[in-house]
Amino acid sequence: MHYPERYLVTAALPYANGPLHIGHLAGAYIPADIYVRFQRMMGKDIAYICGSDENGAAITLRALKEGKKPEDIVNEYDAIFRKSFKEMGISFDMFHRTSDPSHHETAQEFFKTLYDQGEFKEEVSEQYYDEEANQFLADRYIKGTCPKCSYDAAYGDQCENCGSTLSPTELIEPKSTITGSEPVMKETKHWYLPLDKYEGWLREWITDGTVDGEEMHDPSKWKNHVLGQCKSWLDGGLLPRSMTRDLDWGVDVPKSIEGSEGKKLYVWMDAPIGYISATKEWAKKNGKNWEDYWKDDKSELIHFIGKDNIVFHCLIFPSILKAHGGYILPKNVPANQFMNLEGDKISTSRNWAVWVHEYLEDFQGQQDELRYYLIKNMPELKDSEFTWSGFQEMNNNELVNNLANFVNRVIVLTHKYYDGVVPDFDEDLMIVGPEGEAETAFHDSEILRLFDDVHVLCQHIRDYDFRAALSQLMSISSKGNQILQFNEPWKLQKTDPETVKVVMNLALHYVAVLSTVMRPFLPFTSDKLQGMLNLDVIKEEDEMLSMLDLLAAGELLFPSGHKIGEPTHLFSRIDDTVIAAQKAKLVKTVEETPAVAATVIVEPSPIKDEIAFDDFMKMDIRTATILTAEKVKKADKLLKLEVDMGSEKRTVVSGIAEHYSPEEVIGKRVSILANLAPRKIRGVESKGMILMAEDANGKLSFVSPEDGWQNGATVR
Ligand code: MF3
Ligand code: ZN
Repeated sequence: MHYPERYLVTAALPYANGPLHIGHLAGAYIPADIYVRFQRMMGKDIAYICGSDENGAAITLRALKEGKKPEDIVNEYDAIFRKSFKEMGISFDMFHRTSDPSHHETAQEFFKTLYDQGEFKEEVSEQYYDEEANQFLADRYIKGTCPKCSYDAAYGDQCENCGSTLSPTELIEPKSTITGSEPVMKETKHWYLPLDKYEGWLREWITDGTVDGEEMHDPSKWKNHVLGQCKSWLDGGLLPRSMTRDLDWGVDVPKSIEGSEGKKLYVWMDAPIGYISATKEWAKKNGKNWEDYWKDDKSELIHFIGKDNIVFHCLIFPSILKAHGGYILPKNVPANQFMNLEGDKISTSRNWAVWVHEYLEDFQGQQDELRYYLIKNMPELKDSEFTWSGFQEMNNNELVNNLANFVNRVIVLTHKYYDGVVPDFDEDLMIVGPEGEAETAFHDSEILRLFDDVHVLCQHIRDYDFRAALSQLMSISSKGNQILQFNEPWKLQKTDPETVKVVMNLALHYVAVLSTVMRPFLPFTSDKLQGMLNLDVIKEEDEMLSMLDLLAAGELLFPSGHKIGEPTHLFSRIDDTVIAAQKAKLVKTVEETPAVAATVIVEPSPIKDEIAFDDFMKMDIRTATILTAEKVKKADKLLKLEVDMGSEKRTVVSGIAEHYSPEEVIGKRVSILANLAPRKIRGVESKGMILMAEDANGKLSFVSPEDGWQNGATVR
């Protein structure tokens, strides 16, 4: 297998309008960090790029709310980001800012090139305008009553109460958030990227991985929910999208373009270009050539993002890159889904979040504990859940009882039996291996098994399967524990000290391997442990590669007579009181934040009339997965879904559009009434019905099979 030598890895630029929470870390920054740290340790040329997203209405709106200047807002949050990321061990090569002049220059060059090539469509349209403030109103600047749920503080682009996507003209009694006055319609000119024109090549690129027949990536390596979302957008038909806005904050439309006055680049045009301007700055400071990373088709570009950013990274930014010409396209976009918190969506406005800077204060020196829990529960393929009890349980059971306990036993026994000197041993002696079989440790069997286990872990990382990689790490630690358990050196030392030397040397090899292999996940613990071991191979930059080479050659990692350092604690138990305090803090902050909408608890509905068993058996209910989803035109309530039922794929129309956006449901596991007579709904043939649980408030939930359960299984 050949792996490319050069990678450019990006993580979504966070909006500099609020602090980071655990969902951000689990969604993009930690997965990218694992990948990058791993590739560096394999000796690859790789750059990890990020920065603050400082333009657009998200920033000016926050400034308006806080009565500050946009500059002050972005400076404040950019500083918080840098501190939080650094303390969490997120190892960016470059963290840039889109307010930097160098970024403005690069973004304008892109815009000008596309303009000069005649790529844009110029269009005049009517938009809301605030006559008192003398400015056009971005969608977020308009508030009014939601036409769907009557919530009276819905934004021009979205209702935060019912989640519907809106356009400003749909709002009832719209008001400007700047002056509170009623906005008027006024004509304005903008430049549109004709996404409709690119649909053909985008579809070929996404679904076949080719452009003009030339192979670019392997779609089978892309996550299903990412492909599904892209296909839904493509099937729904792409529309030209405006690349400019009437705003007074952001990147100016280049002055040389006629009508540029007062116009700024659309933030979703400038922000991804931020990856390029950041790479340029990094290259300049480090004696590299940025074009190697962006223009050489032997380089791999990988975007780590959350699922709400898929359309921008898989369709719009690639369109911009290709229209400009000369740039490579992303090799993969391993987007994650969302992490929920204690049974509810993380929400900045409702203050339902665990903030990274607060965690760092409350849990000093416990960054790896958070990293571990976020990786273990990473929303790789579907939404996941953070709970404080889960965090405690994982810490006490896995980090303390498995990993720290194993390492501590090995280090302590090495000091007790050999004064900290790694023992030499007789190669031919048999010991009991981790699966209970008698074998030699180093000749052939044991050490090669360790090599294989590490190899499997590496492959999981390359496949962006970080949960599996982490679980493999813990399984290596468990095997180390097993070796001690089976051989019981604490008993054997009295009767057979020669065999104990083999056991201890092997156990020390497990610890050394763990110290390296854990680095992408738990960098602080890796440092601590390597400090204890004091080994040369693990001081190399490409320590993973050097270690694998030694193991593969059957060589020992510890030179004869090597002395290890003193044991220190890797992890400690987290008490109930600490967890209770965090839970209380969460509830308290949410209570202090004005509620968006109160949920009223109503009695459940009464049970229906009795039916016979045979009546029930007539229903054929199956498990399935939603592959694609799109809105049904002119029907507010309906989503058209394509579901995978194992043996076949079907189209089902479901009345859930007021509760879920199409992007949200892709990848969801569901139960479906499969033998319901087909019905034509709004011209679409619907075969079957998705089962939903509904509470007395009308809130919906999918009826989902357990994790890992196959499609097409019968529900009885
Ligand atoms: N700021 C955006 C968000 O938080 C992400 C921007 S990613 C980039 O959702 F590609 F535009 F940079
Ligand atoms: Zn609403």
